[in-house]
Amino acid sequence: MDDMQNPFVYGTVVTGPDFVGRESEIRNLRMSVRNGKSTVIYSDRKMGKSSLLAEFMRRYDDDYIFVYLDTYGITGLNEFLEKFAEEVTRHSLSKVRRFASSFLETIKGTGLRVIMTEDGEVGIELRSARPRQHEIDEVFELPEKIAKLSRKKMVVIIDEFQDVAGVGGVQLIKAMRSKFQWHKNAVYVFSGSKRHMLMSIFEEHEGAFYKFARPMTLSAIPADEFKDYLVRKYSSAGGSLSDEVATKVVEAGGGYPYYVQHVAYELFQISMHPTLDDVDVAIQNTVDHQSSAFMNMWESVRSLLHRRYLLAIAREPGIPQGVAFIERHALRSPSHISRIRSQLEKKGLTEKGRIIDPFFARWLRTASLRNGQE
Ligand SMILES: Nc1ncnc2c1ncn2[C@@H]1O[C@H](COP(=O)(O)OP(=O)(O)OP(=O)(O)O)[C@@H](O)[C@H]1O
Ligand SMILES: [Mg+2]
Repeated sequence: MDDMQNPFVYGTVVTGPDFVGRESEIRNLRMSVRNGKSTVIYSDRKMGKSSLLAEFMRRYDDDYIFVYLDTYGITGLNEFLEKFAEEVTRHSLSKVRRFASSFLETIKGTGLRVIMTEDGEVGIELRSARPRQHEIDEVFELPEKIAKLSRKKMVVIIDEFQDVAGVGGVQLIKAMRSKFQWHKNAVYVFSGSKRHMLMSIFEEHEGAFYKFARPMTLSAIPADEFKDYLVRKYSSAGGSLSDEVATKVVEAGGGYPYYVQHVAYELFQISMHPTLDDVDVAIQNTVDHQSSAFMNMWESVRSLLHRRYLLAIAREPGIPQGVAFIERHALRSPSHISRIRSQLEKKGLTEKGRIIDPFFARWLRTASLRNGQE
């Protein structure tokens, strides 16, 4: 068993043979890109945004210049602008060598300069430590300029886009739009998991990107497609998975590809020919594996009332949250409930009075947590 390679993958971006379904999403994305229309992808965490984007890039690598920006860990405006400029230019420079000199010509006299980084790569730097508006504009004009120079359409993908607002505020986002909206050769794909923040940017009248991008929501991968994949992977690894067991694994995932893969991974560690009972063990192993992450989520909730509410809805999912519920869980009053709900929603833990992450809910039901249980 130990020397058998586990065919299931969780926690990293998956593409190619590990990628299940999403054909219609890919088709839609392809259509929008072709029509020069930008897209915004909303989904909960762990739903497969980054994998969808990676798979899209893999399939159409020959047709477009792809620029993928992950804003994770970026804290300052300068850092963001430099990373943006760098990514937009790096990919193009490596693809179309002959265009290097015309590129240098393009940025002559702007607030940008080309540098050589420590690891020998070409980098872009802002000349000033505090960029002024025209310098910011110059950065956001780059995709169109470079796409034109290289005679290929550019697709700029910004994953976890809500973080950009964190770095430069509405001002920065407005500056982006004011440039991006004129671009004919560059098209944009934004994605993110903080629905509230994204919605306010893309769907409210006063939002900076109002009506700029076509919305796409990622929901669960259809159960049949996932079951086929699990069965196929098991058998190609020399094991077997019954339809019943596969169904149970997919259901346990609660619609989250991450959890389906995680439970399948644990299951494969347990047996090459697993039973329904083995799935229960695999589920528990998955919960255990996540427990420190869940503990962090739990500890980020400081108020006892909020904690009590979380435990209540973990234990009684789908129960009407009326007077009886409030009394049973000592939650004070309907107005308290609505305040708690809106704060937990902002944190991304709940939505419409239910816990978003199904395994966090499981963990809350089984972990021995003292707080809020008096
Ligand atoms: N299309 C897919 N087919 C199979 N597994 C998938 C698919 N999409 C996602 N997964 C599983 O879910 C996990 C998380 O996917 P991914 O990182 O793409 O999600 P995400 O929405 O970008 O998550 P995060 O919010 O953490 O950035 C992957 O490691 C993989 O196990
Ligand atoms: Mg991601």
